[in-house]
Amino acid sequence: MTATPEPDALLDLAVATAREAAELVARGRASGAEQVDVKSSPVDMVTAVDRACEELVTRRLLGARPDDGLLGEEGGERTGTSGVRWVVDPIDGTTNFVYGLPAYAVSIAAEVDGRVLAGVVLNAATGELWSATAGGGAHLAVPGSDPVRLTGSRPASLDRALVATGFGYRVEERRAQAAVFAELLPRVRDIRRHGSAALDLCTVAAGRVDAYYEMHLNRWDFAAGALVAAEAGVVVTGLPGRPFAEPLGIAVAPSVADEFLSLLDRLHPHGA
Ligand code: IPD
Ligand code: CA
Ligand code: CA
Repeated sequence: MTATPEPDALLDLAVATAREAAELVARGRASGAEQVDVKSSPVDMVTAVDRACEELVTRRLLGARPDDGLLGEEGGERTGTSGVRWVVDPIDGTTNFVYGLPAYAVSIAAEVDGRVLAGVVLNAATGELWSATAGGGAHLAVPGSDPVRLTGSRPASLDRALVATGFGYRVEERRAQAAVFAELLPRVRDIRRHGSAALDLCTVAAGRVDAYYEMHLNRWDFAAGALVAAEAGVVVTGLPGRPFAEPLGIAVAPSVADEFLSLLDRLHPHGA
């Protein structure tokens, strides 16, 4: 194994790659050339742009670092020898992409021994670029402005917290998610469903919502966004005693974290 690269070097490559990929996604959207197929269920869409984007990202990352591994949502899987593995969601928010809702992002994370050291989430519709390195903080760069460091929010109580969530594509998953949602809604300020897990995590980092939770996420959905949230000082965790996304992924402002975790623990169907 070669020496582990610096997180900043990994982030630079991830950001340059994400910028190029986001241009491809934006062009794909503008040309209206989406060919839609379905994957895990009739509502789980994948487009030619998702696939082309993953190919571009894979080519760029492995072109620069040929010994790395890679895991991509659209089938990319490669075992490397360098110790670095890239985790890629070429478009997180494909449903938004197809409908033209401006919340779809290229998500790229670099992990070493399963620990994410650098991550970028670039909203291809707005140009907002969210990034983080392990120990280096989380930042948002809005086109035309200087990057700002992210520090999340500090709501006074859970009943004043704005909470984002998402739903999987399988009917049975959705029934379980809807049951939790129905109990949660009367106990919080309100709920948002943005349609991109990566952006949801980043919005907690920015304090645009106070918390986010979702059941049954995949690694490519959250690898980059969870680092952005954690580096902003957000509590990023699973249910008490469980790792993130096994099966619930939770990102919550520290001021209401205990309250939120014990509520989700009570509401969540154990064993799911
Ligand atoms: C989906 C989005 C959505 C979340 C789903 C994900 P995709 O990813 O992140 O917000 O609720 O769980 O699968 O299919 O758009 O890459
Ligand atoms: Ca995704
Ligand atoms: Ca995707």
